[in-house]
Amino acid sequence: MESPSTIRVATSLCYFCVLLSFTTTVIDPVVALENCKFPAIFNLGDSNSDTGGYAAAFSQPPWPYGRTFFRMPAGRFSDGRLMIDFIANSFGLPFLSAYLNSLGSNYTNGANFATAASTIRLPTSIIPAGGLSPFYLDLQYDQFVQFKSRTLKIRKRGGVYKDLMPKEEYFPKALYTLDIGQNDLGEGFFANKSIQEVNATVPDIINGFSTNVRRIYKSGARSFWIHNTGPIGCLAYILVNFQAAQRDSAGCSKPHNEVAQYFNYKLKEAVAQLRKDFPLAAITYVDVYSVKYSLFSQPKKYGFELPLVVCCGYGGEYNYGNDASCGSTITVNGSQIFVGSCERPSLRVNWDGVHYTEAANKFVFDQISSGAFSDPPLPLKMACHRNASY
Ligand SMILES: *[C@@H]1O[C@H](CO)[C@@H](O)[C@H](O)[C@H]1NC(C)=O
Ligand SMILES: *[C@@H]1O[C@H](CO)[C@@H](O)[C@H](O)[C@H]1NC(C)=O
Ligand SMILES: *[C@@H]1O[C@H](CO)[C@@H](O)[C@H](O)[C@H]1NC(C)=O
Ligand SMILES: *[C@@H]1O[C@H](CO)[C@@H](O)[C@H](O)[C@H]1NC(C)=O
Repeated sequence: MESPSTIRVATSLCYFCVLLSFTTTVIDPVVALENCKFPAIFNLGDSNSDTGGYAAAFSQPPWPYGRTFFRMPAGRFSDGRLMIDFIANSFGLPFLSAYLNSLGSNYTNGANFATAASTIRLPTSIIPAGGLSPFYLDLQYDQFVQFKSRTLKIRKRGGVYKDLMPKEEYFPKALYTLDIGQNDLGEGFFANKSIQEVNATVPDIINGFSTNVRRIYKSGARSFWIHNTGPIGCLAYILVNFQAAQRDSAGCSKPHNEVAQYFNYKLKEAVAQLRKDFPLAAITYVDVYSVKYSLFSQPKKYGFELPLVVCCGYGGEYNYGNDASCGSTITVNGSQIFVGSCERPSLRVNWDGVHYTEAANKFVFDQISSGAFSDPPLPLKMACHRNASY
């Protein structure tokens, strides 16, 4: 059997070919774009890009989280690395330390403000009484502002402090990445709102998003890499809890994905407006949805299997139950069962019902970093440029 990694390499090479031919035919070679040198990355988001914020503030996701790459729980909601880890490494930068993590962090090359369960809008019920992170996007922005002003002061103390904080000039030169919104939709669905009711909240969610990008821009940021939201209707936590929702040909919930698509339509529109308002900024919108969806619609083509079935879970058609979370111990028919993971996470898409496996994250990273899913059509390495034509 051909190994899945061979297939994936071939696919990403091919996207590169498309881009190369595009570059040579459309762009004047005299003014070819240079690769960007981002000295740091500042990330805001939810569990899709949390590298330890939730773990530091609340509790570490338990084993077998982290089993594939870190070989132990590493503050990430996956068996291994997230897209943000692959993004940082692609620029030769280390993994981002979480802003909330006071132990062993090094912020020289950036900081991560994302926490699992974060929303864009003010959350209605927060941990520990409720399920959402208190660190919604406005607060992540406030933390970024504090981070910036305080690290500049702390650096001046010299010694080890100088070696743990970013330089002042890194802030305007850094890449600002955002991946958030899934929990705003999830919150609505689980609050028993109808599809139409949740859909109607989308414009307000997007407003909250734009407001924060504007504020980050005004702090001096110039390069943004913005992920849209994934196909939430393909994830087991939706499929199990909304059994009656209409399924599409991939087995995903059609109405839930339609709300995600409307979110993405409004997000893309908002990003276009921001680009107009800020002629000095390079703001790239990245269609993560399409790449993630292709894992559900054509898993075999990309070397995956059983995309709707959870790797680390227990029970039912999707190997997922609300009371059988990955890494927990449950009682079934009087006996204790540890909710562990599947044999080969590298072949699987869904890790724990809500989050993707490292293999899926790597696949999505490979696809999006080529630029084939970007608007403007710029690869990640060129995300400091405003567009592809000069
Ligand atoms: C923090 O990371 C930077 C860049 O990798 C490195 O040069 C520096 O020595 C690290 N600081 C400490 C205190 O380890
Ligand atoms: C959810 O909505 C349905 C239909 O509108 C209603 O019958 C049910 O009581 C609601 N459940 C909760 C927990 O609000
Ligand atoms: C969401 O709202 C938009 C704008 O009104 C509409 O075009 C779209 O069909 C709606 N989608 C769903 C799933 O209700
Ligand atoms: C629990 O026991 C019942 C009765 O013996 C059996 O039908 C059922 O399949 C068992 N459930 C599980 C999850 O093993």
